[in-house]
Amino acid sequence: MPQFPEEFLWGAATAAHQVEGNNVNSDWWVLEHAPGSAIAEPSGDACDSYHRYREEMAILARLGFNSYRFSLEWARIEPEPGFFSLAEIDHYRRMVAACHEFGLTPVVTMLHFTVPRWMRDRGMWRHPEAAQAFGRYVEKALDVVSDGVEWVCTINEPNIAAMLAGGENAANLVAHGLPAPDPLVAETLVAAHGIARKVLSTVPAIRSGWTVATQAFQAEPGCEDIALTYGHPREDFYLEAARGDDFVGVQAYTRTIIGPDGPRPVRTDVERTLTGWEFYPPALGIGVRNAWAVTGGVPVMVTENGIATDDDERRIAYTAGALAGLHDAMTDGVDVLGYLHWSALDNFEWASGYRPTFGLIAVDRKTFVRTPKPSAAWLGRVARTGTLPL
Ligand code: NOJ
Repeated sequence: MPQFPEEFLWGAATAAHQVEGNNVNSDWWVLEHAPGSAIAEPSGDACDSYHRYREEMAILARLGFNSYRFSLEWARIEPEPGFFSLAEIDHYRRMVAACHEFGLTPVVTMLHFTVPRWMRDRGMWRHPEAAQAFGRYVEKALDVVSDGVEWVCTINEPNIAAMLAGGENAANLVAHGLPAPDPLVAETLVAAHGIARKVLSTVPAIRSGWTVATQAFQAEPGCEDIALTYGHPREDFYLEAARGDDFVGVQAYTRTIIGPDGPRPVRTDVERTLTGWEFYPPALGIGVRNAWAVTGGVPVMVTENGIATDDDERRIAYTAGALAGLHDAMTDGVDVLGYLHWSALDNFEWASGYRPTFGLIAVDRKTFVRTPKPSAAWLGRVARTGTLPL
């Protein structure tokens, strides 16, 4: 049976807007409530994790995990440009302290898609001072991570953020799919990442990186050239920016087949998850190997991997398959620091609302009662033993 190293990080991940609730000062809240919004439903109270984070940390620790990834909400910390909330910074410091109390190594993300309303009003990442504005926020947020946090992710999935960049794209994405990334935004995000890393490097104990959305891109015979436009190169740009970083976060879920006209829709004769993606566990091993190759050997942390399903047995099967592929990559020499499952909780899946359930822990939408699923116990056992039962 595959064995993982003793110091391996085993955990689960969330993001502020998806779980906290009432994130009213964020761009997404605006989008969710815009007339005619294509977003399935508003985030509302989400999982009320803003108040209940200790409960979920306690569950994760009891299950056997040793790590928790969560994000800070810029819209709470800097509600107006240049005005910083000490109380919100303190809130996130309490979250870090609670992680330690429960024996969970915190992995903290500075920006997970959402920005303050004022950033949206300024054109978000298209504003000439956007990267500097992010840097100033990270300088203040340093107070959250300067004591007792080793792992910091600057920006989550910059390659997806580049597509959402205009805000309006996010509102339309359900109807029209994701647009091509905006090159100006891509450059700005790389600059923002660089500034943030510089700020974070003032604390020697911090190891920083960013987390890239990877996929298993597979070209049909004769379509290899087309794949060069649509496939890995789009994520490779962001992986290259992670060269010389302390670590790179890999997030992998599924595969995309590239045909003569670009990405093909998911075939109807394969198993599909609640997001409509193909059930394809090998995506993780492929994503991790690609990140390792493109970055020239930067240590990898799996910062997300999972599936949206109502059938928890399929979640276990998917995760077992993904971990087997991950272990194979490690056997072949890829340095992997840990595996953080997406997600700790059933939560707000952006434009799709609450229907796609990614959680190891179910959350009652009326009472907020948390109920760990069998997959949570299964993965907790893997974490405790460091052994993958196959
Ligand atoms: C990646 C994103 O970081 C996360 O916010 C999202 O919920 C999952 N993928 C699933 O789509």
